[in-house]
Amino acid sequence: MSNMQEVRRHRRLRMKAGLRTMVRETALSPDDFIYPLFVVPGSSVRREIGAMPGVYHLSVDRLAVEVEPAVKLGIPAVILFGIPESKDEAASGAYDPDGIVQRAIRALKREFPELIVIADCCLCEYTSHGHCGIVRDGVILNDESVALLARAAVSQAEAGADVIAPSDMFDGRVAAIRAALDARGFAQIPILSYAAKYASCFYGPFREAAQSAPAFGDRRSHQMDPPNVREALREIETDIAEGADAVMVKPALAYLDVIRAARQRFDIPLAAYNVSGEYAMVKAAAERGWLDGQRAMMEILTAIKRAGADMILTYHAVEAARLLTGQ
Ligand code: PBG
Repeated sequence: MSNMQEVRRHRRLRMKAGLRTMVRETALSPDDFIYPLFVVPGSSVRREIGAMPGVYHLSVDRLAVEVEPAVKLGIPAVILFGIPESKDEAASGAYDPDGIVQRAIRALKREFPELIVIADCCLCEYTSHGHCGIVRDGVILNDESVALLARAAVSQAEAGADVIAPSDMFDGRVAAIRAALDARGFAQIPILSYAAKYASCFYGPFREAAQSAPAFGDRRSHQMDPPNVREALREIETDIAEGADAVMVKPALAYLDVIRAARQRFDIPLAAYNVSGEYAMVKAAAERGWLDGQRAMMEILTAIKRAGADMILTYHAVEAARLLTGQ
């Protein structure tokens, strides 16, 4: 090099582990994570989900055993998905006071009063056709479905949920849920809305886990078209205007630009969902020895946080928290 004085020696601060630690811009912590759980009927059930190694279908009586290590590791919250005993066209399991998620919420709050229990609020796990709402003449109805979502939200709050997280993507659901919660004395319960949720192939393993794949058609009439980012900002703006306390971008990995755009535009707390397909890819490649699974996991979670997420919903939560805390 002709003029050594002009060489910028970026490597100086990379030479020692201590120096790298000092200049690290993004740090993951167990309290960034929200741990998703799948609750099923029965007792003593702990059945691994095919495409999600390390993730289980759990009966209500097995939940506490699964959650205890998460709590000990400092993970502040879980999000619950329920697979009901039976499904019908009106998704009645979603707002049954004795429904699977309602029972799971009560059990968890009894065991871990400090744990934040988030209730995913959608109808797709409860409808016989697997759609997120009421279907008439092949059309997924908006307002009729929103009315049922509001009922589901109230019953989840009555069971003791700390946060309601509507994941349906129908119009007006945040306003309807807010009004219903307020009317029933739950003005203090926050709404974390899945505000920018895309029609993504990365939900594949989840639909197997939740037995919620649509029997016909798809979710493209309500979930977002993957090429759009400005539309995500409009969705988020609407949900904030309707009363959302925090918003979510989903999926995370293929939508880091959306997370970044949302972070730059809005001051509201932002969550990102590192979804089932993103988890399955890492696990499958690691199983074959094609990737270092732990490093891939940490790199992905760090990227999601670096993009601007305050909270990360991830099936890796416990594994990542163990690595972070050395426990
Ligand atoms: C709907 C819901 C879905 C996920 C979370 N909530 C599935 C869907 O929209 O089809 C996906 C989560 C994941 O893939 O990990 N209740």
